Amino acid sequence: MFDADFAERFNALLRWRRDVRHFAPRAVAEADMTALLDCAALAPSVGNAQPWRFVRLRSPAIGDALAAHVDEQSARAAQGYAGQTRHEHYLSLKLHGLREAPELMAVFCDDRPEAGHGLGIATMPETLRYSCVLAIHTLWLAARLRGIGLGWVSILDPEAVHAMLDVPAHWSLIALLCIGYPAQESNMPELEQRGWQAREPLADRVFER
Ligand SMILES: Cc1cc2nc3c(=O)[nH]c(=O)nc-3n(C[C@H](O)[C@H](O)[C@H](O)COP(=O)(O)O)c2cc1C
Repeated sequence: MFDADFAERFNALLRWRRDVRHFAPRAVAEADMTALLDCAALAPSVGNAQPWRFVRLRSPAIGDALAAHVDEQSARAAQGYAGQTRHEHYLSLKLHGLREAPELMAVFCDDRPEAGHGLGIATMPETLRYSCVLAIHTLWLAARLRGIGLGWVSILDPEAVHAMLDVPAHWSLIALLCIGYPAQESNMPELEQRGWQAREPLADRVFER
């Protein structure tokens, strides 16, 4: 089913997936959004618990409030670099596209899912959250192969966002996602292009015991 040509193209998909903060002014078709969610739901999950909860943000007021919140949190984070050469560099980075992306989505983990019947989470309950991250990555790749970009925003106070979105108490925020067509394509992370952090040698991150 997966031949060498597919493997090569899949490799290109991985290389050209990007975290996107610059979006073109173009809507994402509803059928594509549905397809992305269908793909995300194919991700593996502990005990097959499928603990992901996707909250599509339809309200412009909520979008504005989230953008203001992230700007505020980012300004606070910038203070951590005060006095360092990285301070100006940090301020020059664009770290979210919340005001431009046509689609915003929050992803939560249901920390008490009925599905799965508790299988696998007695010793590592955090695997529920890992499962949600896998769903996000699946959605990310499914988007990219349709030419749609995704930006993961984490410079936020999860409790504040939880309160803004009024979701059940036993849901934990995993990610705030911006989804839309990227303004440009690249096979290099934007943080690498901007001189913040390049990819490092994989050999430094692989160990043997
Ligand atoms: C868990 C997670 C949180 C992230 N949070 C942010 C964020 O708040 N703002 C941002 O601009 N990028 C964020 N990113 C994107 C990373 O900066 C990006 O993945 C990394 O620089 C590598 O670039 P690439 O995804 O284009 O390969 C996040 C990525 C992950 C996986």
